[in-house]
Amino acid sequence: MSSQLLLKHNLVYLTEDASHDDVIELINAEAFGPGRHTRAAARIREQGAHDRSLSFVCTDDGETIASVRMTPVLAGGVKGHLLGPLAVRPSHKNRGIGRELVRIAVEAAKRKGSEAVILVGDPPYYMPLGFEKVAYGALQFPGPVDPGRVLVVPIAADVHARLKGVIGWRE
Ligand SMILES: CC(C)(COP(=O)(O)OP(=O)(O)OC[C@H]1O[C@@H](n2cnc3c(N)ncnc32)[C@H](O)[C@@H]1OP(=O)(O)O)[C@@H](O)C(=O)NCCC(=O)NCCS
Repeated sequence: MSSQLLLKHNLVYLTEDASHDDVIELINAEAFGPGRHTRAAARIREQGAHDRSLSFVCTDDGETIASVRMTPVLAGGVKGHLLGPLAVRPSHKNRGIGRELVRIAVEAAKRKGSEAVILVGDPPYYMPLGFEKVAYGALQFPGPVDPGRVLVVPIAADVHARLKGVIGWRE
């Protein structure tokens, strides 16, 4: 039997709660490094709390090894959610955990009546998961972003037409 077959994993996806805060901080620090707080999306997240009911962790035998957070935003005329940070511990990469966390978060946002899920990220990773490019420069972030990396899963009608203007935290 190869050693591959002896590896045991017991992955469970859970809604985030306050007990996960410290380990999520460590996972994000490991994934993004010290510059993470200066990114434009991070500045939106500093404006107000994320929505724990739409934020998820993945645990392996009880140890939290990945996280995705969702923050309520008003993006132009769209009441949506900003997805991120998304991070998976290096020990658990390339097993579909990141993809599954994105899928779960987007489905939860749809159930909650969100109009769109927006993020700043790599198109080759997110576009196969249902994300589309936002028109270049349509959204103004509180800091510089690469306009080619602003992506959206439109949920409500006419989302692309209404995604014009400032993006910021909302109640
Ligand atoms: C990006 C990240 C969340 C992916 O999580 P993961 O659980 O390893 O990813 P999955 O198993 O769901 O998907 C793996 C696939 O995505 C690809 N992939 C990973 N990062 C990618 C990227 N930035 N751009 C394009 N493809 C990427 C892998 O090559 C792999 O491709 P394959 O299925 O053809 O082999 C994880 O690598 C991570 O935490 N990275 C550091 C933080 C980060 O960059 N977060 C995303 C911010 S935009």
